[in-house]
Amino acid sequence: MSAKPEVGIGIVGYGLMGRAHAYGYAVAPRVRDLPCAPRLLVISGRDEGAVAQAAGRYGVEEWTTDWREIVERPDVDIVDVCTPPGTHAEIVEAAAAAGKAVLCEKPLAVDYASAAAAAKAAADAGTPNAIGFNYRRLPALALMKQLVDEGHVGEVLLWRAVWLSDEFLDPEIPFDWRFERAMGASSIADLGAHLIDLALWMVGEIAEVAAQSETFTRERSRRTVDVDEASSVLARFAGGARGVFELARVCARRPCDFFVEVNGTAGTLRFDYPSLNELWYGDAHDDATLYGLRRIRAEHPTHPYAADWWPIGQGIGYGTTFVNQAADHLERWPDGPWQPDLAQGARVQLVCDAMERAAAQRRWVTVEEPA
Ligand SMILES: NC(=O)c1ccc[n+]([C@@H]2O[C@H](COP(=O)([O-])OP(=O)(O)OC[C@H]3O[C@@H](n4cnc5c(N)ncnc54)[C@H](O)[C@@H]3O)[C@@H](O)[C@H]2O)c1
Repeated sequence: MSAKPEVGIGIVGYGLMGRAHAYGYAVAPRVRDLPCAPRLLVISGRDEGAVAQAAGRYGVEEWTTDWREIVERPDVDIVDVCTPPGTHAEIVEAAAAAGKAVLCEKPLAVDYASAAAAAKAAADAGTPNAIGFNYRRLPALALMKQLVDEGHVGEVLLWRAVWLSDEFLDPEIPFDWRFERAMGASSIADLGAHLIDLALWMVGEIAEVAAQSETFTRERSRRTVDVDEASSVLARFAGGARGVFELARVCARRPCDFFVEVNGTAGTLRFDYPSLNELWYGDAHDDATLYGLRRIRAEHPTHPYAADWWPIGQGIGYGTTFVNQAADHLERWPDGPWQPDLAQGARVQLVCDAMERAAAQRRWVTVEEPA
């Protein structure tokens, strides 16, 4: 029997993210020596048969069709929110009011006002809280942040972040929550939130944006689609760097292809998600005979997270980000703080709102300007 104190986990939503987060808690104690033992107590969903089946498959002890039961259970310490964005703020606020720690999937909400209210509720509760920007916990991206901070690219001049998928390309895909802005948020927020978080983390605050958006298939299952299928954004960072973001869900044969790149006065760093164990680095001061980008294998035990995983050369995958996320949080249980917190989730949403406003109004928008 474990002598470690148990931490009760309740997961709201059993879809893709419910599965990923349950996996994270199950594996975290196997890769990291944690001060506590996570226990997957309960999971919720609206479909009784499906949530019961998911509970069995994910190793969760009980299930419910009412998420409020999770929030009200005294043995649940962490409420983990894995439902569509339009439901997040209400669940986070209820969990915070009940004194629970909260992890919420991105984007925190569908607009800044609700994101800020959710972040404030969690801050007022004084319990650990976090937003699910899991890509920060990929060894290669954590290493990229470390190298930027250590000055390996010098002063950042340019930031470039692109996310391409084909999930909305086929006009016959039936309507679901992702096509409704009030439930799924914009593509700027749903896909862009990850890239904006990485930009704020590595480069700093964004001051101004200009953008364009398009929806090519405006009706599905006889319902109106009000979500952008493709958006592109120009950005000016407060520190003077310039940036480009592109979020597109109509790119044939691109499954979830994202890349981020910084170009600075002393070098370039580039990360390409299809090769997620690698980071590319070009040093402007290299001898000219070495001209080009070198491929860093971000699996060396000295690299972030890498020592928890497999011997160099074996690689890790998407699921690892959820294990690292759970391990980081449980390692800081019960006092926290957790990073990135919901305030950072709200900060990212403020930038998303500005990007959406810039596209709708066809002008440069200051991020801090009132909506
Ligand atoms: N971090 C990542 O890598 C990543 C990847 C995919 C999705 N997400 C985010 O995770 C969240 C959940 O996405 P998902 O892909 O797991 O969704 P999903 O459709 O697979 O699952 C959604 C779950 O929410 C429940 N639900 C509650 N209210 C609902 C409603 N009104 N409409 C539809 N479902 C409702 C469903 O029963 C289901 O259990 C979203 O915020 C999404 O943006 C994050």
